[in-house]
Amino acid sequence: MTISQNRFLPPVLSLPDLDALEWKSMAEMIRFRENSRPKELLDEQVIVKQMGKRQIVLIADPVAAEEILFRRADQFPKAAIQKKLGHAAFGPGLSGTVGAQNQRQRHAFKPLMVGEQVRIMAEVAKEAADAAVSRYLKAGRIDLGYEMAELAMQIIWATLLGPGRYEGRDPIVAEVITELYAHPKGDFISATGIVRRLADHFEESGRWKRLADDNPLAAITNPDGWTGKHPMSQEELRANAVVMAASGHVTTGLTLAWSAWLLGLFPDDQRRVVQEVDNDEHQESGSFLRQVVNETLRLFPPGAETMRDALSTMQVADQTINPGDLVIVSFYALHRHHRLWQNPDAFQPQRFAAESPEPVMPTAFLPFSGGPGGCLGERLAWAEMLAVLGTLFRHTRVETDPVEADKVGLCPGTCIYPEGALRAQLHPR
Ligand code: HEM
Repeated sequence: MTISQNRFLPPVLSLPDLDALEWKSMAEMIRFRENSRPKELLDEQVIVKQMGKRQIVLIADPVAAEEILFRRADQFPKAAIQKKLGHAAFGPGLSGTVGAQNQRQRHAFKPLMVGEQVRIMAEVAKEAADAAVSRYLKAGRIDLGYEMAELAMQIIWATLLGPGRYEGRDPIVAEVITELYAHPKGDFISATGIVRRLADHFEESGRWKRLADDNPLAAITNPDGWTGKHPMSQEELRANAVVMAASGHVTTGLTLAWSAWLLGLFPDDQRRVVQEVDNDEHQESGSFLRQVVNETLRLFPPGAETMRDALSTMQVADQTINPGDLVIVSFYALHRHHRLWQNPDAFQPQRFAAESPEPVMPTAFLPFSGGPGGCLGERLAWAEMLAVLGTLFRHTRVETDPVEADKVGLCPGTCIYPEGALRAQLHPR
């Protein structure tokens, strides 16, 4: 982070020139690290690089992103290489499958991510946050990075994989998060092994017995798996228990941590949020808190990119995507693109206001990806994040030390993580 005209600029990735990219093999190339994506992508719509016989196409263009992820999604399915990685980490669950198998699982889990479950999520999140806030206030100084990861996992654990209500802080969750937090961020496959312990516990402890019948995970100990409308083998269920725990906590945990940390750095913005929270207006559409979370997701999209295999031809600027190419849509580059945003690296939540003079182009902002391969948990995530931040700012004033904050960097791995702790001092209100 740099201090500019008394405004703080949150951390950026220091990307290398295209010529200096260190891609020695496909395995190297697919790893999202600071030296693996070119800085030219922040100015260009598309960058193409040859990797052996294959063309790798990096996209930071809203129109092309819309074509690839939404309109012509059938011609740009999830990349086999992404499936391979997801499968190695999770097994045959949502992140490790493509095509009909993936769609079947999406249909089975979708009902748990909308409607009544969203209301339950908000309630559980509020209860869990209420309990956590008392603990944070006792501690005074906390690492938001750790605390929000744990809180997000406690919430997902209590709802999707649990009884549907908050029953207090589960020490197993805290243990798992402590270990995950210390784990190297780029090492996605072994990190999943840590989350698997939680899923194993879920199975062994009999917690699955408390799930509603319409939750496929209720059948996790059944050797025949889930025999509902969209059946799943036991292996698929086990993989998905890990997928839900992993994808359901890292993303929201990071967004909560960055949002609270940024509000700690910008007291005027925090005061606006507090006023909304006190009037119970923070969840309304167009609320300033929603603008803050959107701006946080723009600067720090937890999933920085997604990969698709091209099955047909497409023109992007002066480049042609050919069948067989690997297409990487970079959300980080789209969100920080020099031609798409004014002051792209600055924290300016009001750019998401309805009355903003420069309205956000919807496909220039895709933190949840989109289309038939996009995030399944978007509504759950919003319910959880608004409930947690509402509770936090109802009871505390968050203070982030700008000098300390200046030392925080970014660490790209499976997600974009903070490098170092996101420390804040919490004061009772
Ligand atoms: C701030 C919160 C979140 C963000 C920014 C986010 C973002 C994303 C992104 C970028 C993808 C990849 C989509 C693609 O490859 O095109 C994804 C996939 C997924 N997300 Fe989320 N997510 C969030 C929260 C959640 C939550 C709370 C859940 C569930 C409890 C969830 C469940 C999933 C699942 C299951 C997938 C895999 C879908 C598939 O492969 O078919 N996400 N998410």
